Amino acid sequence: MDFDDPKQRSVFFDVHTDLPREGPGNFDSTKQALTLAGELPSSPRVLDIACGPGMQTIDLAKLLPTAIITAVDFHAPYVKEVERRAAAQGATDRVVAMVGDMADLPFAPASFDLIWCEGAAYIMGVENALRAWKPLLRANGKLAITEAVWLRGDPPSRVRRCWLEYPAMKDVAFNRQLVATCGYKLIGDFLLPKSAWLDDYYGPMQKRLDTIKDRYRGDRAAQDVLAESQEEIDVYRTYSDYYGYVFLVMAAA
Ligand SMILES: C[S@@+](CC[C@H](N)C(=O)[O-])C[C@H]1O[C@@H](n2cnc3c(N)ncnc32)[C@H](O)[C@@H]1O
Repeated sequence: MDFDDPKQRSVFFDVHTDLPREGPGNFDSTKQALTLAGELPSSPRVLDIACGPGMQTIDLAKLLPTAIITAVDFHAPYVKEVERRAAAQGATDRVVAMVGDMADLPFAPASFDLIWCEGAAYIMGVENALRAWKPLLRANGKLAITEAVWLRGDPPSRVRRCWLEYPAMKDVAFNRQLVATCGYKLIGDFLLPKSAWLDDYYGPMQKRLDTIKDRYRGDRAAQDVLAESQEEIDVYRTYSDYYGYVFLVMAAA
């Protein structure tokens, strides 16, 4: 998938429109990670980086009813969607969504008690992300991310092909070590359940693919993008023992 190609980009965002979330995850996992993060100040400041359409933003707003949450994403339509969902939740007064770049965030040092990033730290590289975001944490601040990981060292070629766009993907042990290397103390980690991929992410994505495929009949370039998304789903359905997502919850050491 070439994001610099306007056609491919437009079909990609057509697939990724109106999905409840933009990566594997679910309410129970967000809650479990939040529980690991432990006690927060009475009105915590929370930053949700690369929030997508805001599923975990709104889950955090529900789980932390006194939190003030800032949600940032590069893609303006997702930011609008977060605003819509916050309004539907009656949380516009404490959920602020804005367009921004995770690699160039416009916040003063020590602005947040909790930084959250589901499924996106890889975009700037986990190590870069952990180092860049640490100064934004207040004393005793926590950071929680999800990251794609290899669960077995012998993935079949079809799986490796599917993950070609993320050659830096590592295993859980590597990521635990990286947390320490970047100056954090790992509080805990756990793997997302398969249902967080199949029911919460790929289920709605499959429905979307089925809905839009007729729109691109006879359009070879568009069909290629749709086929790539379909392959991503099918590979996970077949090979979910080979890779997964780890939730890493850490404190600035
Ligand atoms: C895999 S999605 C995860 C979205 C959301 N956290 C979720 O789990 O539903 C990655 C998100 O990162 C956003 N993104 C990509 N590059 C970014 C950047 N440089 N800064 C901020 N967000 C970015 C995309 O627009 C997309 O919403």
